[in-house]
Amino acid sequence: MGGPEPRPSGDRAMNQMIETIQDRHQKILRAVNALSRAVVADAEGVYSLQLSGFLRHKLLPHMHREEHHLCDLVDGITEQNPGVAATMVIDHQLVESQVGSIGERLRTAALENAQDSERRGVHRELETLLAQLNAVFGLHLRREEQVYLMAFNHYARRGIGSEIRLRMQREHGDGKTDNLSTDAAAGGIS
Ligand SMILES: [Fe+2]
Ligand SMILES: [Fe+2]
Repeated sequence: MGGPEPRPSGDRAMNQMIETIQDRHQKILRAVNALSRAVVADAEGVYSLQLSGFLRHKLLPHMHREEHHLCDLVDGITEQNPGVAATMVIDHQLVESQVGSIGERLRTAALENAQDSERRGVHRELETLLAQLNAVFGLHLRREEQVYLMAFNHYARRGIGSEIRLRMQREHGDGKTDNLSTDAAAGGIS
């Protein structure tokens, strides 16, 4: 009496899963934003290496794990709306190709024998590509969180199965061992 109605446990578990995903997404996005700004400010500095390492070893594996563990879960609830998981995969493919293009420019920028005019051209391209990556990736994460919310709502109405929890653990780990921070992000570059 008197206090807020306690949520059913399935609802609470669902909310926790969404919070875990949002938290992970925000950490990745903040790191990509911070490293992108650092690279735009100094394309030949140490942040180039950190950015390419983060994109290849944190961002891409996040998307690959998601496709491996969660896409068929989403497909299972979207028979009336086929293609929802495929849409997420198409986003991933675009992000992956952007990461490839950025990696190429970073390698060119790091070449010691590059001409100044070539460096300036690469820097301009990098700036454009990084702005595009941040925009596309930020939109993708928002869209994805809505899709997951829809999927978890669906499964919560049926009681959250142990299979879903297991998938989430496989996709996101225990949240303690996956270090998504970077020196740039931790340093609060703005
Ligand atoms: Fe994704
Ligand atoms: Fe994601």
